[in-house]
Amino acid sequence: MSARDPGGLLSLALEVAQEAGELLLTRPATLGVDTKSSPTDVVTAMDRASERLVVGRLRAARPGDGILGEEGTDDAGTSGVRWVVDPLDGTVNYLYGLPHWAVSVGVEVDGVVVAGVVHAPVLSWTFTATRGGGARWHRAGRPAQVLTGSAVMTLGQTLLATGFAYVAERRARQGAWVGQLLPEVRDIRRQGSGALDLCMAAAGLVDAYVEQGLSPWDVAAGGLVASEAGLSVSGLRGRPAGWDLVVAAPQGIAHRLLARLVELDADHQPTAGDAADSS
Ligand code: IPD
Ligand code: CA
Ligand code: CA
Repeated sequence: MSARDPGGLLSLALEVAQEAGELLLTRPATLGVDTKSSPTDVVTAMDRASERLVVGRLRAARPGDGILGEEGTDDAGTSGVRWVVDPLDGTVNYLYGLPHWAVSVGVEVDGVVVAGVVHAPVLSWTFTATRGGGARWHRAGRPAQVLTGSAVMTLGQTLLATGFAYVAERRARQGAWVGQLLPEVRDIRRQGSGALDLCMAAAGLVDAYVEQGLSPWDVAAGGLVASEAGLSVSGLRGRPAGWDLVVAAPQGIAHRLLARLVELDADHQPTAGDAADSS
């Protein structure tokens, strides 16, 4: 097996995500909370401890690889393999004791994500994918389920997941276009973990997902899970999914949803008043 084999990379991603999940389950009563880009953008000592664990394991197992982690790790590496890690996606849920949070580990080879794991320990849900190898949902006591997304055909029947950035100005704009979509869809869900939202769309637990202002660590693993489940994962106007917008939608509604989001200018980047919104 080559050092770039997606199956081997997935095994290691799974191992480290599960170990980090175990660590996070030992949530102390006092979390040691700091803020980042805004007063609502929290980071706990556990986010940092999880990243330390993941980075330590990856460096020990594969010393030449690059690692990008939300809590500050940014090594280019020399092997052409890079790990893209959100050590705790859904920190606000974690803080409140809500179950929707996950460890997200994506693996790129020469800049292309080839394997990904999103592990949600409280839910006992683990989503995995390899490029070209499909996406799977693993739950205790059940056989792994190959994911194919939702069969929804109309926006009116679409349960649409979304999320909101931490910076107030951007959030107000997002709320405005989500508000315009609300009467046109079945309903809106805001679960609080972008990585899990992508996987839930892959599993058909929601029909589609859209969010602006996501970072590579939010999308690397979950984006592969969604696309391997057959969903369209993109930005608007032919752009790839990224900071401007991430849209994950099954083929039956992708065209219509993307067109509606263009009409709503959902990937519009706030400028002057949002100068501080670069985190
Ligand atoms: C956040 C979650 C949330 C999304 C935010 C993300 P974090 O990540 O994914 O659902 O709406 O945009 O920043 O801060 O919990 O890792
Ligand atoms: Ca995140
Ligand atoms: Ca995080």
